[in-house]
Amino acid sequence: MNNNKTISGFSKLTKSEKLSWIKEQFFDEKSSMTEVLREYWHSNEAKQEVLDGFSENTISNFPMPYGVAPNFKINGELYLVPMVIEESSVVAAASAAAKFWLTRGGFQTEVIGTKKVGQLHFKFSGESKLLQDLFPSIEAYLKEGVSELTENMQKRGGGIVGLELIDFTAEENNYYQIRGEFETCDSMGANFINSILEKFGHLLKTFILNHSEVSEEDKDVQIIMAILSNYTPDCMIRASVSCKIEELGMFAGGIDCYEFAEKFATAVNIAHIDMYRATTHNKGIFNGIDSVVLATGNDFRAIESCGHAYASKNGKYKSLSYCDISNGIFKFWIDLPLAVGTVGGLTNLHPMAKISLEMLGNPSAEELMGIITTVGLAQNFAALRSLVTTGIQQGHMKMHLQNILTHMNASEDEKSAANKYFEDKTVSFSAVRSFLDKSIANS
Ligand code: MEV
Repeated sequence: MNNNKTISGFSKLTKSEKLSWIKEQFFDEKSSMTEVLREYWHSNEAKQEVLDGFSENTISNFPMPYGVAPNFKINGELYLVPMVIEESSVVAAASAAAKFWLTRGGFQTEVIGTKKVGQLHFKFSGESKLLQDLFPSIEAYLKEGVSELTENMQKRGGGIVGLELIDFTAEENNYYQIRGEFETCDSMGANFINSILEKFGHLLKTFILNHSEVSEEDKDVQIIMAILSNYTPDCMIRASVSCKIEELGMFAGGIDCYEFAEKFATAVNIAHIDMYRATTHNKGIFNGIDSVVLATGNDFRAIESCGHAYASKNGKYKSLSYCDISNGIFKFWIDLPLAVGTVGGLTNLHPMAKISLEMLGNPSAEELMGIITTVGLAQNFAALRSLVTTGIQQGHMKMHLQNILTHMNASEDEKSAANKYFEDKTVSFSAVRSFLDKSIANS
């Protein structure tokens, strides 16, 4: 093995050359890494090229399970929801919650806002008062200067909604921000917003440079950066379920609907009180959200960072969902800022994302916000239902057992014998190994 692990021009190598170099530098020569990675190349070269185009230095594909959760009734419509997730029991949990609520009125969603945010960060050394006085003219100048970029979006009903000057000079010398609000219709709008903001930067410099009221020494505005904000509290959706407490029925372990509702509401409240629990509680919500976001070719990192920022909007990280049990009614809901698109970006380029959107009836961005948030709520409902009744391990272990059996190449007969045997026993790798060894010895 050659120990020179650095390289220039890596990106220019062919995929096979990349693999050879990687094997030589980072793997044992007996390793089958090349064969394994090659096995996951797409057999159709053109299709592989599409996938390679989404990233750089690609050496293979990393498959993730693509599942579906049926029976989601949202605002009276039935959906089959595509989910990309590697964690066992997430799709099963979503499906179980969907089925549970199917006969109790289904899920309701309400779009509370659709505005996205972008920021131009800059430094201006002149008087703050002067900048504020000039701002109405700056605003008009900026809007006029980007009219070519906004024309198409305006035709679709979107564009720049508002611009605001924010003075941060108390926190950072000479630092100001122009915060913009944008309506980007069915697109997530990242490119639209970023292009506008970068143009704003040039326009602002020109405006100040040419303005007679700005003294010579203050004319040089320094643009620090121009970029959208993934924090979009005005791009907000609510998803909810509700029913009479009696309609909740009976739960495992002989728990009746009233005890269940009380325990469930307490569990949600705990996630409002305690940050350790809130993090796990919200993680469960994002199990559902991320998997639909991924399946539809949206940006799960943006959605996660926004959701978690929103969960701590009041200075303490809390549950994103709420539960109320008053007047005999069980109500469970979530408010979530969620910026997604159904046109543009990966949504149109990734063949699987296209299928996902088609499966969902080619929804608008607003409808997709509702579907995604509903799956997050369903996931949270399923997790809490298990946690306050049987515990989470029962379901998890069933799935875990299947994975272990597949990993150990168990036959169909061995699988069904193992499923029966482990019904009342703790599943572990070694326990399954010894069960299979014994059953082989006895056969
Ligand atoms: C596991 O991925 C998610 C849960 O831990 C969520 C929760 O505890 O609410 C089950």
